[in-house]
Amino acid sequence: MTNVKHDFYGKVVLVTGGSSGIGRAAALKFASSGAQVIVADVAEVAGKKVAEEALSLGGQALFVHADVSRMDACQALVDKAISHFGRLDFAFNNAGIIAPLCPVGSCSEDVWHKVLNVNLTGVFNCLKCEVAVMKAQGGAIVNTASVMGLVGAQGAAAYCASKHGVIGLTKAAALDYGRDGIRINAICPGFVDTPMIEGNGTNANKSATVASRRAAIRRLGTPDEIADSVLWLCSDAASFVTGAALSVDGGFAAC
Ligand SMILES: NC(=O)c1ccc[n+]([C@@H]2O[C@H](COP(=O)([O-])OP(=O)(O)OC[C@H]3O[C@@H](n4cnc5c(N)ncnc54)[C@H](O)[C@@H]3O)[C@@H](O)[C@H]2O)c1
Repeated sequence: MTNVKHDFYGKVVLVTGGSSGIGRAAALKFASSGAQVIVADVAEVAGKKVAEEALSLGGQALFVHADVSRMDACQALVDKAISHFGRLDFAFNNAGIIAPLCPVGSCSEDVWHKVLNVNLTGVFNCLKCEVAVMKAQGGAIVNTASVMGLVGAQGAAAYCASKHGVIGLTKAAALDYGRDGIRINAICPGFVDTPMIEGNGTNANKSATVASRRAAIRRLGTPDEIADSVLWLCSDAASFVTGAALSVDGGFAAC
């Protein structure tokens, strides 16, 4: 873990996809910075474990089962944050999935809708519920896009479309809520060493390792390196940053 320290004492943060990888790293960093953390995910056992780890770091934490592709689940999630902690200061809309690589002509409608429903509609669902409560007090929201939101990737049409969509959604929402004191940004991670790239029949690990050699910094990123950018975007150090799509990719998108 890097040593950048923020003071988020008294702040409440919601992290979707918080059971694993980048979301887990962010949840733990928020907790060790004093924030009260809601870990939201469909993976219940792992999510409860992350909430316990966050508690052991001295923060307060709660796991909430939520499928971000469902608006009713996102509303219940934000309602839970308010009923349990009384406010919502930050949100990290990070839950996402990948699909096995295939050319667009072989991508089934099911896969297309599944990826778009989680990666793009999921961010929309969360945003819609979060801004409704943040309008009263301001806040900061970070959405997880990807380098695949900036460039194309062979065999990954649905994923690329979803992540390009997250960047457009982020920019539009930042314009909608800037005057309400809500900053909304996207991060664009490069290839990061998380369970997502470990496989699940997607050949993702091999492709990610090969692709990471194209980055200026010739390696995979760590979940902590991505989480650091999320905490920075939520902090007052980023008070003039909104509507940005921040590459955290070891220079992958620079080539
Ligand atoms: N790992 C990478 O190389 C990389 C690169 C760029 C962007 N990203 C993005 O970063 C985000 C986090 O990915 P990660 O690498 O930590 O992967 P991960 O698989 O470790 O974590 C993703 C988490 O999202 C959860 N999730 C999936 N569908 C969900 C749903 N419908 N509702 C709620 N939670 C759900 C999973 O259970 C899991 O805990 C994703 O949006 C991903 O697209 C990852």
